[in-house]
Amino acid sequence: MQPSIDWSLCVRHLICPLCGDGFEINGRSLTCSQKHTFDLAKENYVNLIPGGTKMPKFPGDSKMMLQARRRFLDSGHYQPLVNTLLELIHKFDFDNSDGPETAVLDAGCGEGYYLNQIQQGLAFDGCYYGVDLSKDAIRMAAKRVGNGRFVVANIKKQMPLADSSTHLLLNIFAPRSPTEFARLLCPNGRLLIVIPQDNHLQALRENFDLLNIQPDKQALIEKQFAPYFKLKNRVHFKFPLKLQGGNLFDLVQMMPGQRGSQTNAQPLTESQSIETEANMTIMVFG
Ligand SMILES: C[S@@+](CC[C@H](N)C(=O)[O-])C[C@H]1O[C@@H](n2cnc3c(N)ncnc32)[C@H](O)[C@@H]1O
Ligand SMILES: [Zn+2]
Repeated sequence: MQPSIDWSLCVRHLICPLCGDGFEINGRSLTCSQKHTFDLAKENYVNLIPGGTKMPKFPGDSKMMLQARRRFLDSGHYQPLVNTLLELIHKFDFDNSDGPETAVLDAGCGEGYYLNQIQQGLAFDGCYYGVDLSKDAIRMAAKRVGNGRFVVANIKKQMPLADSSTHLLLNIFAPRSPTEFARLLCPNGRLLIVIPQDNHLQALRENFDLLNIQPDKQALIEKQFAPYFKLKNRVHFKFPLKLQGGNLFDLVQMMPGQRGSQTNAQPLTESQSIETEANMTIMVFG
């Protein structure tokens, strides 16, 4: 069993999804003033979606997608994204004046690769949170990021974190909510949103049945976030990817396919390879 981490250090950031009050730690449970109680799982995460909540039709990534994502990311192909994120964070005046209670949140954290890398790169003791709708993702992330706090919640609905609680908010290839992100971010906080550009993995998209990238995604997001945030920076970057066999299969498997149709990934063989380019944009809001 995993060593349990001390949630009391960071619990002040979390709020009860039923009444919005803060929590206290009660043994292995979080309890609010109204006695709403949510148990901490042995893997060090908490499910803050109240029982009986109607779940969306697509309840987050499946185990198979998550395992493929983990293998692909662990092979280091997206390390340039981690490096660029860290460079950007180091460039702006990241407010960690709350010391160990400084909150870093990865909204839509998946299996935890980026939160783990960012935590190692920032190298300071704070409260590192990962939120995802997929319980499988949260379980995998909690096992990977030993001292992270992981929460099952729906970004699109209500994030169970307190107003102005978050100093650094990451949102990497995941759904987002301008109003919730604005509520969570503290006055000097920064929000980093990573999205694919229209031509991201173009050669791969031409060969496999992958979900299309929404046209003009960046302009649309900037418009959605403009009422709540100032755009502080925007970075476009690209890097080549030469993919073969297992890595190629994993990249195809980890991405959402066109719903209702078959992916072409099955006939892939170890010798098959493809050369493509990753094209991404990071928007920094504050
Ligand atoms: C494309 S994956 C990206 C995961 C991770 N950020 C990464 O880049 O490795 C999108 C993630 O968003 C999660 N997700 C989808 N809808 C969500 C929602 N409404 N609330 C929270 N997470 C959601 C999925 O379960 C999945 O882990
Ligand atoms: Zn409550």
